[in-house]
Amino acid sequence: MKHRIAPHGNVLVNRVVEGARAGELRAEAGGLKRVNLSAKQSCDLEMISIGAFSPLKGFMGRADFERVCREMKLASGHIWPIPILLSVEAGAPPKVGERVALHAPNGVLQSVMTVQEVFEHDKALEIPSVFRTEDAAHPGVAQVMAEGRVCLAGPVETLTVCVDPSGPEAFLDHRLTPAQTRAAFDQRGWGTVAAFQTRNPIHRAHEYLCKVAQEVCDGLLVHPLVGETKEGDIPAKVRMDCYKVLLENYFVPERTLLSVMPAAMRYAGPREAILHALVRKNYGCTHFIVGRDHAGVGNYYGSYDAQRIFDELDAADLAITPLKFEHSAYSKRAGGMVSPKTFPNIPGDQVSLSGTKVREMLAAGQRPPEEFTRGEVADVLIRWATGKG
Ligand code: ADX
Repeated sequence: MKHRIAPHGNVLVNRVVEGARAGELRAEAGGLKRVNLSAKQSCDLEMISIGAFSPLKGFMGRADFERVCREMKLASGHIWPIPILLSVEAGAPPKVGERVALHAPNGVLQSVMTVQEVFEHDKALEIPSVFRTEDAAHPGVAQVMAEGRVCLAGPVETLTVCVDPSGPEAFLDHRLTPAQTRAAFDQRGWGTVAAFQTRNPIHRAHEYLCKVAQEVCDGLLVHPLVGETKEGDIPAKVRMDCYKVLLENYFVPERTLLSVMPAAMRYAGPREAILHALVRKNYGCTHFIVGRDHAGVGNYYGSYDAQRIFDELDAADLAITPLKFEHSAYSKRAGGMVSPKTFPNIPGDQVSLSGTKVREMLAAGQRPPEEFTRGEVADVLIRWATGKG
């Protein structure tokens, strides 16, 4: 079956330049003002360049920024939940019309941008609307607070897609662009594809969500976020080893595709769930898994806020279908994975462990119960937690 979900805004953006144009840009870049990107900005730039953030062709201007904050829409009217900004220190910003060279944190020349707008970074508008809190202890809030006070907007032309191709987190065999995942789905004959976003190793609850989605869709895209994450999150390299061993042992290869998403995490809960869904639409997925406290952190969001927010959106513009899952866990009584929709919660019946407890066990070289994490995955995590992997 031919795969047919349109990208957001109907055109799959591609801002990557090659050949003679790339040569011209490289020559030009040496004489341009240099902008040093943060890790988050560099991730955003890759997402824009490959079309994962379609219809964006560059960093947002003021009209998009304000409407996104206030209404979760671009100036064009399409749904968009989180600003994608290039904010810099106020010092001596480039002028409107100037071209600038954008360099990744490792110094690599990533893109050239034409500055179309220079405007104030209105953090007092952005932070409460995006994060629903102004608490500086929230990692996404802290990140925006640390950013510059002036935003540069404009379209980009990109020379380097993956800025550290020989690094441990390049995953070049699994770094498919939206055009490539779409082609892969077509090649496999998948008409419907569910995307699974994750920033953690896949435990049994995550696996259950994936399996249920596979029952109703032709294929599953396991699509871990591997861009910038907060301190304390498990490194992407370790997670990838977990995903590979899990897929090899517990999934059907013809029905499952593993590819990475080079985006940065914002921990913005509900609004980030929408961003995650729109991006997966761009990658060609028709369905998107949203579980408990999606993209949440601490206790800032209610368990199902990230599901409810989808009900506020124009379903035709969203187009991708959210697959909503309630808290899932292994039930000893039922002898399998359950959720409140499928089995009553009997005290003491479900196998649940806190993140702290799991870390303690792994650091002590102990596998958590098989009902919580597959043994093969636990072994990868133990090697990492004990410094052997
Ligand atoms: S996230 O930041 O990417 O959302 P995580 O990798 O932990 O974090 O979760 C991936 C997906 O699985 C999210 O949709 C999340 O809501 C869902 N999820 C995680 N654990 C559970 C669970 N026990 N029950 C239901 N959904 C879950």
